Amino acid sequence: MDKKLLIVGNWKMHLTVHQSSLLVHRLQERIATHRDVEVVLAPSMLALQPLSMEIDRRRFRLAAQNAYHKDEGAYTGEVSFAMLGDLVHYAIVGHSARRLYFGETLDIVRDKVQAAVRNDIVPIICIGETKQERDAGETKQVIHDQLTTALMNLTGKEIENIVLTYEPVWAITTFDGIVAKPRDVQEAIRFMRHQVEELYGERTANAVRVLYGGSVNEHDVRSYLELPEVDGVLVGAASLNYHQFSEIVKIAHQVQTEQN
Ligand code: 13P
Repeated sequence: MDKKLLIVGNWKMHLTVHQSSLLVHRLQERIATHRDVEVVLAPSMLALQPLSMEIDRRRFRLAAQNAYHKDEGAYTGEVSFAMLGDLVHYAIVGHSARRLYFGETLDIVRDKVQAAVRNDIVPIICIGETKQERDAGETKQVIHDQLTTALMNLTGKEIENIVLTYEPVWAITTFDGIVAKPRDVQEAIRFMRHQVEELYGERTANAVRVLYGGSVNEHDVRSYLELPEVDGVLVGAASLNYHQFSEIVKIAHQVQTEQN
């Protein structure tokens, strides 16, 4: 594998600005720079500005957890991708928490993906089915619908640069927290790449990075990263603990060293 592994920590709505800063300092003490691993932190919106000045940019990049799809205007309470352009390299888009708690539809996710790309921010697009959908045998249909709508207005070249994440809702710690079998992850990610290939061709399908997310921790991360289809992980709960998160990064580097 010649791509870097991408390890993203989604801190969700946790940590004050001060606590975020402390966590970054702890991570900077423990995480070495690895040329084969890219580490991305997604703190709260409030912490992005101070952390952008505190982080060692050779070791970490920042991601927003969300943003609004219009660039500016009378949208009280919102922050646009355009405003985040100087602060972040990535933005998480279509996370299941946003889809389920904040009514983000397929069309809203599509608009946000486009806004991110328009503003030179790489979207990390989350795709995945709920437990109910899985039990009803709808997994592939849900993945297909979420993926094709999200990518709808992008060119093949733009898609080569974005990040997709298979993040089944039933595997997320704060939903059902069921540990996904690597075989299930492999099957879903193969299907996602196949969808990209059908629509945009083999080159784009091979280039697009696809992550796995859902209860990933230092004990099971290796089983996902060893899959040739997986280009990294999106980590929630374990990214708030500097022992666990730095261990995950260390294991990613080990896997890369073993495979190259
Ligand atoms: P957990 O790792 O806590 O299951 O969260 C996954 C997730 O939602 C990351 O965005």
